[in-house]
Amino acid sequence: MAPAIKKLNTHNEELYGQDFLTLADYSPEQINDLLDLAFYIKAQKKKGIPFEPLKGKVLGMIFEKSSTRTRVSFEAGTIQLGGQALFLSSKDMQLGRGETIADTARVLSGYLDGIMIRTYSHHDVEELAKYATIPVINGLTDLYHPCQVLADLQTMMEVKGDLKGKKLVYIGDGNNVAHSLMIGSAKMGIEIVVVAPDGYAPDKEVVEKAQQFAKTSGGKITLCTDPNEAVQGADFIYTDVWASMGQEEEQVKRRKDFADYQVNESLLAKAKEDVTFMHCLPAHRDEEVTESVIEGGHSVVFQQAENRLHAQKALMTALMS
Ligand code: CP
Ligand code: NVA
Repeated sequence: MAPAIKKLNTHNEELYGQDFLTLADYSPEQINDLLDLAFYIKAQKKKGIPFEPLKGKVLGMIFEKSSTRTRVSFEAGTIQLGGQALFLSSKDMQLGRGETIADTARVLSGYLDGIMIRTYSHHDVEELAKYATIPVINGLTDLYHPCQVLADLQTMMEVKGDLKGKKLVYIGDGNNVAHSLMIGSAKMGIEIVVVAPDGYAPDKEVVEKAQQFAKTSGGKITLCTDPNEAVQGADFIYTDVWASMGQEEEQVKRRKDFADYQVNESLLAKAKEDVTFMHCLPAHRDEEVTESVIEGGHSVVFQQAENRLHAQKALMTALMS
């Protein structure tokens, strides 16, 4: 089912030195190159064969928000690639006391070979990338979560093979994960339906961008508000938390607004029989998804989490070696 593993030249002339802020900046061919490399790296790891193209290289990881998967997969991944990773809490950096992003970018560029950053404003990450002379990787902003979706594309290919024409239904908040799924789907020729209650639809500019990309890939982008109708014929159902990091004070209101948008057994039964359930994690069980769905036979959430490691190792190899 999953694509054949290709033996690859790890130095990628086109991607070396580039930033990874959004999948919108990558062509379908480049995304496919990264995925080929991710499959290769995963296969080598499973065989216990060392793969260390980042020997002597150092990744700095700036976190302004919490993380389990992103932090550990980037840190473990860098070490497995032969390099080292530094965890930098923005609270403990001068950045947290008002040093500018532009100055931080130029200082860190003198010490490091790459920067991964998780923060609020996407504009801050663009600013960091503008001034840094080393690759900057977006580890989640309020707008996008491209590393998650790169790993999700790997998972989707493992589960269903060729993704062209497959139907992915995202149910819930039109957030960073939804935005990156829309861009990733549009690039890869996937049909994506985003189902959100009124007032929680994805960002208009992102929708337009995705629609533009879908024109050349054969993908399709649809927005709607009725989950029952949307899941018909779905190959994948994806959800995420109703309140993202930074929206904690809206949690109670959102719980009410999203009450009809839970992924449960009866919704799953309306999709294809072999539908795959996905979630980027962390999950709020019995809110956006029931315990029985996330723990059930259709769920691939831990495969998704594991693939963060392999996909990001591919990304770092391509950008930094
Ligand atoms: N999915 C994801 O990015 O998880 P973390 O917040 O734990 O990094
Ligand atoms: N939308 C979630 C994703 C967490 C990985 C958030 O931003 O909190």
